[in-house]
Amino acid sequence: MDIVLWKEGTRQVSLVKTEQTFVFLKPESIMRGLIGEIVSRFEQKGLLLVAAKLLQMSDKQARELYAMHSSKPFFQELVSHVTSAPVFVMVWDGPNAVSVARNLVGATNPAVAAPGTIRGDFALNITPNAIHASDSIENAKRELSIFFSEAEKTSYSKPTEQRYLLK
Ligand code: CMP
Repeated sequence: MDIVLWKEGTRQVSLVKTEQTFVFLKPESIMRGLIGEIVSRFEQKGLLLVAAKLLQMSDKQARELYAMHSSKPFFQELVSHVTSAPVFVMVWDGPNAVSVARNLVGATNPAVAAPGTIRGDFALNITPNAIHASDSIENAKRELSIFFSEAEKTSYSKPTEQRYLLK
C-alpha cells in the first residue's frame, strides 16, 4: 500500500511506501492473557492492523505455515504446540513492516532475546516463544494467505499517524 501523507492544494507533498507482514501470537500468549499487551506494542510503534482473528490452527495450516522447517528435528513439536490451543493471527501494515515487526519480536531463542523485545520480556523457551513474525515480504504473503482471504484485509488509514508518524 502507498500512503499519501497530505496534499497542499493539488500538490502531493510526500508518499510513504508500506508493506504487509504476518504475525501470530502462539497459544501460551493467549493462555497467559498477553494479547492486549503484545498487540499494543505494534500499535504504539505505529504499524497499522489490517486484519486479525482468534482461531484454532489446524494441523494442515501449521504444516503449511512451517513447511520450510519440515525436515528439522523440532518440526513435530512445533506443529503440536501451535495447534494445542487458539492462536491470534494478524496482518500489520507499515513502512518496512517485516523488519520492524521482527525487531519488536526479538531473537528466536528467548534466552538470548534482548530485554524490551516481546520474546525478551515474555518468553523463556524456544518452542513456546510467544510470537511469530514473517522473515520476508515473500513469506509474509504466503503465510498470511493461509489464514486470510483478500476480502478479510481492510484498507484504511489513520490521519493523525499519517501526519505525525509516517514521515
Ligand atoms: P518461529 O518464529 O515461529 O519460527 C519457527 C519456530 O520454530 C520458532 O519460532 C521456534 O518456536 C521453533 N523452534 C524450535 N526449535 C527451534 C530451533 N532449534 N531453532 C529455531 N526455531 C526453533
